[in-house]
Amino acid sequence: MAKVVLGVAVGVAVAACAVAALVVGRRVRTRRKWKRVVGVLKELEESCETTVGRLRQVVDAMAVEMHAGLASEGGSKLKMLLTFVDNLPSGFPILGQYSMIVGVPPVCYFGMVFEFLSCCNLAALSVSCSCILPWSEKGTFYGLDLGGTNFRVLRVELGGQRSSFDRDVAQQAIPPRLMTGRSEDLFDFIASSLQHLVEKGNDSEQSPIIKELGFTFSFPVKQTSVSSGILIKWTKGFAITDMVGKEVAGVLQQTLARKGLNMQVAVLVNNTVGTLALGHYHDADTVAAVIIGTGTNACYWERTDAIIKCQGLLTTSGGMVVNMEWGNFWSSHMPRTSYDIELDAESPNPNDQGFEKMISGMYLGDIVRRVILRMSQESDVFGPVFSSLSVPFALGTPLMAAMHEDDSPELTKVARILKDDLKIPDLPLKARKLVVKVCDVVARRAARLAAAGIVGILKKIGRDGSGCIRVGRTRSDTKMRRTVVAIEGSLYTQYTMFREYLHEALHEILGEDIAQHVILKVTEDGSGTGAALLAASHSSKSVDNVQLL
Ligand code: BGC
Repeated sequence: MAKVVLGVAVGVAVAACAVAALVVGRRVRTRRKWKRVVGVLKELEESCETTVGRLRQVVDAMAVEMHAGLASEGGSKLKMLLTFVDNLPSGFPILGQYSMIVGVPPVCYFGMVFEFLSCCNLAALSVSCSCILPWSEKGTFYGLDLGGTNFRVLRVELGGQRSSFDRDVAQQAIPPRLMTGRSEDLFDFIASSLQHLVEKGNDSEQSPIIKELGFTFSFPVKQTSVSSGILIKWTKGFAITDMVGKEVAGVLQQTLARKGLNMQVAVLVNNTVGTLALGHYHDADTVAAVIIGTGTNACYWERTDAIIKCQGLLTTSGGMVVNMEWGNFWSSHMPRTSYDIELDAESPNPNDQGFEKMISGMYLGDIVRRVILRMSQESDVFGPVFSSLSVPFALGTPLMAAMHEDDSPELTKVARILKDDLKIPDLPLKARKLVVKVCDVVARRAARLAAAGIVGILKKIGRDGSGCIRVGRTRSDTKMRRTVVAIEGSLYTQYTMFREYLHEALHEILGEDIAQHVILKVTEDGSGTGAALLAASHSSKSVDNVQLL
């Protein structure tokens, strides 16, 4: 009996030991796997490092590439495209006319202009707003803005006896099938939206007076005049092959004619150029414009004598806006990871738009997805690897931003997004924290690189403080000129952490003394409204209510 009892006891003890060993073994394995997951994050952090020293190298490379792109055609990855916009609308000279309206101080009108801008809720499908401007001439101008996930049409009423400035905006998402189909379908869709706005505004299509249109087409275009240009290539997931090499405004013009719309494309501009136009209209110190949205790009005001590749280029103003197409910028100083390399190789445009792929809204979410996928391959804490984590672009940048900015103690938003959008349920808190950290590393690198790009432009035009401009005669009068950069795009306007990192880097690179003179000004819907303003200032009807530089 005693033997039996002893045997059972030994058996139980052995079993207990085996279970304990199993548990311990599993724990050790789990811990090891978790260590590997943390290792993925560590490696990411190291390879995304953007020290100020490194950023300054990117600044220098940007300035050097700008010079090279201006020196010769194909001299750099930066195309530095001519825009033929050699005058920018400016609100200032109109000041003189303000006093004509009795009893209301000029400053009130400025207030109204800004109120006008802030009252527009662009998230809504259709918006109307108006304010008073003391202009004596009248003109209705249309803007058509194509370039990202959304497409906008707008009508801007400038001036008139009743001194009004009215605007109507309609926004629509571009159906994905139109981004990769035939050009005819895309342009039909655009023209129909425009037709709808014209009808809504009771602007008779049959009117003998031709309506003028500013067409914002935000892809690399080789301009042949301010109102015409040839598409060089598509970006941001658009791939309509029959359109490459075609004259963009001409295709739109033909479609408008086919639809019976009596409209003339007065200007064809990039969205950065529209943004610069509106930015300059409100603040004459605006010298450059940057977009950080689905894609990214910048343009700036350049002296014509610096555009060496175009010898003999003469403009009355002595300058011209240059569309940099900085999305294609590349420098070996940029911190590149294996995730960037994979993303690029799997994209429809490998070896292209390198800067854009590290910075813009189209790609940031997907970089984060790739890192989480790698983590999930190291540990089963994320669930099976074949989850929707393997689906390209399953995590959009707006979701990434929402996870990054989740400040709840339990990271409930992160949990919900992972569960609903990536089908990863019940991820433990420590793993959710890791996901937030991944978002942080990717967004921070992007924002800091964008800041370096902006300083690169400032360096090229001598506004980075390295050769301070004198405003007076004595040395003590040596001072930085106020420099405004108009900025637009959802990443900057809607992603607070991104914006804060960008500002922080700008200050780090420039130093406080210089940075205080550099102002980034959000120019809401500059790409569309700015194009309409440019259409007015280039109007064949000679609208002199929009003053030029
Ligand atoms: C395009 C630019 C555009 C930018 C921002 C880039 O992909 O090449 O022309 O300005 O996106 O929309």
